[in-house]
Amino acid sequence: MNDREASVPVITVDGPGGSGKGTIAMRLADQLGWHFLDSGALYRLVAVAAMDRGIEADDEAALGPMAQNLDVNFGISNDGMVILLDGNYITGRLRSETVSVFASRISAFPRVRAALVQRQRSFRKSPGLVADGRDMGTVIFPDAILKIFLTATAEARAERRYKQLKEKGESVNLTRLFQDIKKRDERDSNRAISPLKPASDAHVIDSTELSINEVLQIIQILLDDSMISH
Ligand code: DC
Repeated sequence: MNDREASVPVITVDGPGGSGKGTIAMRLADQLGWHFLDSGALYRLVAVAAMDRGIEADDEAALGPMAQNLDVNFGISNDGMVILLDGNYITGRLRSETVSVFASRISAFPRVRAALVQRQRSFRKSPGLVADGRDMGTVIFPDAILKIFLTATAEARAERRYKQLKEKGESVNLTRLFQDIKKRDERDSNRAISPLKPASDAHVIDSTELSINEVLQIIQILLDDSMISH
């Protein structure tokens, strides 16, 4: 990282799937006029690329080099990041449950994670970046000016995901979603490399009983404080 990049402020929003971190991070980036990184989309993108190429989710030897050499382009729309893989628009495929499970499995491989480090850091551009994921505050941007770790109970997260998928017209089963979320939490939290855990200097916010606006208000107060102390 050069001095110019290091001077670009980063806010990290980490947490488990369904905690609301995606929506919160995007809204925050929008309010501040900063760039936005949805790092989970990168893992999902690697999953889609592997599935298209017939690479199995346990084939780390093939997944690492593939993740390193992806032909990918990013844009931004009202709904978040827009992603082109091999010139094809694949954003719509990223959020299915099949891709979620595949992405969670391959994200445990050190070679896959290593392949994505520089790509994630390259989103750090003036005037600032809001980065959402699992290890944004612990590994990718340890020098972030503000680190948020957003949680919610597995029940609340399953219900939110259920509503989201239903709105998109996917046929979903709440009990199945709940079980998938629990399994994914366990895999994401117990992997040897970059497990899902708050950075020691992160502010942990439980969003179970909070609206998006309430969470944003809390973050705004924390941000004002951190701006004063930086
Ligand atoms: O945030 P998400 O649900 O879109 O992420 C999809 C998967 O990618 C998730 O199961 C874990 C993995 N992931 C990760 O390991 N590290 C990140 N920084 C972001 C996501």
